[in-house]
Amino acid sequence: MALRKIVTEGDDILLKKCRPVEKFDDRLSMLIDDMIETLHDSGGVGLAAPQVGILRRVVVIEVDPEQGVLELVNPEIIETSGEQIGLEGCLSLPGQWGITPRPFKVTAKAQDRNGKEFTVTGEHLLARALCHEIDHLNGVLYKTVADRMLTKPEIELYNNGELEIKEKITEE
Ligand code: CO
Repeated sequence: MALRKIVTEGDDILLKKCRPVEKFDDRLSMLIDDMIETLHDSGGVGLAAPQVGILRRVVVIEVDPEQGVLELVNPEIIETSGEQIGLEGCLSLPGQWGITPRPFKVTAKAQDRNGKEFTVTGEHLLARALCHEIDHLNGVLYKTVADRMLTKPEIELYNNGELEIKEKITEE
């Protein structure tokens, strides 16, 4: 396994649409393992392949270390419900935060690293992460769907624990 470099805003690769994975081979497994290692090293919640410079439809998400890493190849959102409006960030946009609306509950279908199909349903942070990471595969950064980005003074207050961003949640 190896750490991969995370591409940051300004690199056009983040704005490109990724191609589907067609070969479920050792190279794909190596990419996924590297992405997991890179995600763990970064302390983030999710990572999409274009963020490590690979234009393929692969995502890894870990919202809770006890539940382990969710690996999604060729993921697609098939159902959403409710709404959550809250703070969102991205490893490719370090130091920035945005207030972003997302569905509260999301079901996605995907394949695992062997090509086997499965579905996953997540609420709250997992739903947010599924939307955010699958957007990456279509070249969409969260700042383009955010209601607004926090200003520099707001980020300073937030980092000092002096700004509370209240989440708005509608479950249905
Ligand atoms: Co991101």
